[in-house]
Amino acid sequence: MSEETASVPAETPRAAVPVATIATLGQHEGQSVTIKGWLYNLRESGKLLFPIFRDGTGTVQGVAHVKGVAAPVFEALKGLTQESSVIVTGKVRADKRAPGGYELDVEDIEVIQRVPESDPYPISLKEHGVDFLMEHRHLWVRSPRQSAILRIRAEIMRAAAEYFDDHGFIRTDPPILTPAACEGTSTLFPVDYFGDPAFLTQSGQLYIESTALALGKVYSFGPTFRAEKSKTRRHLTEFWMVEPEVAFCDLDGLMELAENYISHIVQSVLKNRASELAVIGRDVKKLESILPPFPRLRYDEAARMLQQAHADGHLENAFEYGNDFGSPDETWLTQQFDKPIMVHRYPAAVKAFYMEPDPKDPTFALCLDVLAPEGYGEVIGGSQRVSSYDLLNSRIEEHGLPKEAFQWYLDLRRYGSVPHAGFGMGIERVVAWVCGLDHVRETIPFARTLHRIYP
Ligand code: 4AD
Ligand code: MG
Repeated sequence: MSEETASVPAETPRAAVPVATIATLGQHEGQSVTIKGWLYNLRESGKLLFPIFRDGTGTVQGVAHVKGVAAPVFEALKGLTQESSVIVTGKVRADKRAPGGYELDVEDIEVIQRVPESDPYPISLKEHGVDFLMEHRHLWVRSPRQSAILRIRAEIMRAAAEYFDDHGFIRTDPPILTPAACEGTSTLFPVDYFGDPAFLTQSGQLYIESTALALGKVYSFGPTFRAEKSKTRRHLTEFWMVEPEVAFCDLDGLMELAENYISHIVQSVLKNRASELAVIGRDVKKLESILPPFPRLRYDEAARMLQQAHADGHLENAFEYGNDFGSPDETWLTQQFDKPIMVHRYPAAVKAFYMEPDPKDPTFALCLDVLAPEGYGEVIGGSQRVSSYDLLNSRIEEHGLPKEAFQWYLDLRRYGSVPHAGFGMGIERVVAWVCGLDHVRETIPFARTLHRIYP
């Protein structure tokens, strides 16, 4: 190690002032604290400077008067450029008009890196187009609104795992590199696996069916991939899915799990991310009512509602009975309820090969889609699984799937097959709904879509 890297820089002498975060300033009213962060904005009016600092936990406005601070402090702050990194010390003062309830009377500042005037921070506080912002996503995540969304996302993921951890589910992580399709061959991302074809996983389901028969109740939580050619506000090519799978569970048990699960997640966000919901201006009234039970509709009933809506002129396109719902159909359906709706028993022909047929009418599948309100549409897809070896075998054939790749999956029906069920919930769809966002691109730190893989 060189002399230079081994030497410890001398500490700037400073009184013992506690380091605080902006979110916890309330615990330090009347005290001096040090905050480590960035200059979000600066308003100057002659002898008064109003810097706004951010530190990742929130923003706070500072006040510095030319006569109230040492000359070098005033000089360092005056004209300071947006997003310069700083360590700032000041006295916390309650102010009812301030967004977080507090202001900071600046006492000292150390500029860690000053953004040069010649190369200013590209995202100014004026409006930018969404393409420009996505191109600068690595910086856009610093904005108060985007940070708040990412904090809410983290809470959704935390609560999503917490529910299962607290209810006897064992987390078992499926592989990401897989030899076969789960959700249809048209949206597979191919990978060259040492000369053999492989794919990025579309869902961990087939693998957690295996671990469910080993451990009873399991879940997986990880990234999944769909080479979706669709460019909609609901589709990403890489997204996070959380999937439970339960041995000895039927469709009714699955619906009960789904409504309790979603309610737990939404209520956790309301409880633990209230200030972030306020930053993004979410109407929380619409979330407070998300408690079980959720309305349950057979596909048949939903289809009839859609046909009636079209006849009455509320829905532009006619819904053709037997099809899966399109986005406009889901949007209209969910606007009719103030809770998520659970649509079950779709025609087997439009659903996945692994879904158990309804014994009362095998043209329908024992499956479930949960559609979020306010037009958000499908957030959960799931089903009871085919448990008969013969039926599963013929389904694999009918769907033109490679038999060899599914031998291990058929083993689960050869050895101790039981009724079992599970679902997958897309995290980004839930974030979009809970945050009230128009598009899933803002729900994940770095969205991957049909036309974007940068930054
Ligand atoms: O309905 P899907 O395709 O179901 C499955 O993959 C099952 N194997 C899950 C299971 O039963 N274990 O996907 C599940 C959820 C959807 O409801 C949606 O929320 C999300 O994953 N999803 C997407 N989210 C963003 N972009 C996409 N392209 C998505 N495709 C599915
Ligand atoms: Mg689906």
